[in-house]
Amino acid sequence: MNLFVANWKMNMLRGQARAFAEELGSQIGDRVGESELVVAPPFTLLDAARDARGRWSIAGQNLSEHAAGAFTGEVSAAMLADAGCRYVIVGHSERRTLFGEDGAVLSRKLARAREAGLVPIYCLGETAAERAQGRTEATLAAQVETLADDPAAEPLVVAYEPVWAIGTGLAATPHDAALAAIRLRELISARRDLRILYGGSVNPDNAADLLREGRVDGFLIGGASLKAATFAAIARAGSA
Ligand code: PGA
Repeated sequence: MNLFVANWKMNMLRGQARAFAEELGSQIGDRVGESELVVAPPFTLLDAARDARGRWSIAGQNLSEHAAGAFTGEVSAAMLADAGCRYVIVGHSERRTLFGEDGAVLSRKLARAREAGLVPIYCLGETAAERAQGRTEATLAAQVETLADDPAAEPLVVAYEPVWAIGTGLAATPHDAALAAIRLRELISARRDLRILYGGSVNPDNAADLLREGRVDGFLIGGASLKAATFAAIARAGSA
């Protein structure tokens, strides 16, 4: 079943989150089971973004690399699970580049997520410079190394998000997304339950084409996920 994840990043306030949840609920109505929907709001909105009917699940956008203790401002995996999260995003390119999260930090975050029973949505992807230098595959392989200690028997979601496509309006071509997904499946071949998402400027107009090659299992959606109707339209286009 295809998976569509709304990554709100640092956007929305409580009233907007509640309005989003109401609108998304009316958009999907009783049409459940065609695809899986997940909303990843800021921590303060986890409750407001929840669906009482369970038609979508909620996810953290980040988590602490530590389990508990004197880490002012951090949010633990156990706290996210306790708040009702099923998933947590790990290694988004904004965390890697703006907050300096490297493979060592991210492997500790993956371990904390597993201890709390959360399914990681592990993000990776090459920068424009790496792509220009023909280093896309090498970059993906290096980023996959971070998964080395993650238990192969557990379900895993990997989001291929080329950095140059995030928030730029310049999505990867369906062909490029498919090539990356094929390569990632080779690199992570030991997994029984692996879903590969594409992320980067997904919108209702390019969603169907990006999925048509049949190599990705859904999307991680930033900007276009802030409106419930647009998020629902992407999920519909991707489930057709
Ligand atoms: P975008 O962001 O859809 O706004 O490009 C995707 C992401 O960062 O997950």
